Amino acid sequence: MTSLFDTLKLGDLELKNRVIMAPLTRMRSGQPGNIPHALNAEYYAQRASAGLIISEATQISQQGQGYPATPGIHSPEQVAGWKLVTDAVHKAGGKIFLQLWHVGRISHSSHQPNGGVPVAPSAITPSGMVFTADWKQLPYEPPRALENSELAGIVADYKKAAQNAKDAGFDGVEVHGANGYLLDQFLQDGSNQRSDNYGGSIENRARLLLEVTDAVAEVWGKGRVGVRLSPYGTFNDMSDGDPIALFTYVLEQLSARQIGYAHLIEPRSTSAGGNDAVLEEAPSTSALFRKSFKGVFLSAGGYTRENALEVVEKGEADAVVFGRLFISNPDLPERLKANLPLNRYDRATFYGGAEKGYTDYPFAAEKAA
Ligand SMILES: Cc1cc2nc3c(=O)[nH]c(=O)nc-3n(C[C@H](O)[C@H](O)[C@H](O)COP(=O)(O)O)c2cc1C
Repeated sequence: MTSLFDTLKLGDLELKNRVIMAPLTRMRSGQPGNIPHALNAEYYAQRASAGLIISEATQISQQGQGYPATPGIHSPEQVAGWKLVTDAVHKAGGKIFLQLWHVGRISHSSHQPNGGVPVAPSAITPSGMVFTADWKQLPYEPPRALENSELAGIVADYKKAAQNAKDAGFDGVEVHGANGYLLDQFLQDGSNQRSDNYGGSIENRARLLLEVTDAVAEVWGKGRVGVRLSPYGTFNDMSDGDPIALFTYVLEQLSARQIGYAHLIEPRSTSAGGNDAVLEEAPSTSALFRKSFKGVFLSAGGYTRENALEVVEKGEADAVVFGRLFISNPDLPERLKANLPLNRYDRATFYGGAEKGYTDYPFAAEKAA
């Protein structure tokens, strides 16, 4: 029987265990310029015992930014900053992929080049509140529908960002196709009402995600590319008329491309981890979609020690991705393996600030000392 603590082959990489660190936005990049710095390197290196670290979502372009102080991977300074992070993680014996991010309509003109309005598949304003560049929370502005002729440029931005990630020393990249950001906005019909070849049918709505996946695989090789998806997730005002048909198609297409992994979020964890409520009655995406993807299957969302051990033993996922528990437990794999008590996370320090709630969560060994 496979265990959460067994090694896992991911393309040409071997992960030392199946406890994966989720992509986690922490809004602590260096300012100005959204540049990773020494504190970020320390935070990631502390968590290098994960089988794989997936970095916080990282904007591929200025247009792709939607929150203050999130890091980018589009300037030379950002590439140099990320090199500090990848060097520190590798020195500590870890592996790290970069999550490639374009937020689409989940932005504000204060983040956009020349103060323009945010872009989206269709001019549909999401409900909820946006974070402005100066950390205010305001209602979303109506986005502008992207012209068909602009989409090749966005694919090119992803490709350039993937190359930058390679130059920065990452081990691979994850395409963020989840949680209501640009690629998910194209996938789901609640946010995509286009009438061109990127809207309407499932094939058309999946086109941008698949073009981006192909473009970054050209840079990295297919085995070093993962894709994250969130069927049934409602965060960022998302909805689709037929999630089973849509995500079955997407996973079959990704499977045919033999990418390194598919990474699905269980919708039982509410607001993409932004809320502590657990929707026990939510459909299980690993049960629904695992069969559509032949490669390595990662599952995230609301995992505890118990259900993580079980999902891997039963073969419902190859590895389990932990978000909030990795924020508060830098040595999570060791704690899970030895069944040690877990530090509680402090939601107040998730976003922004410095060391507090970031690099100061104790290791089990420190606590015992
Ligand atoms: C503070 C915070 C930041 C997050 N940032 C990201 C992100 O950058 N990219 C992403 O795909 N998901 C992000 N998520 C979602 C997590 O990756 C994960 O799917 C979610 O927290 C559920 O897993 P958990 O129950 O183990 O926390 C974030 C969640 C939290 C709580």
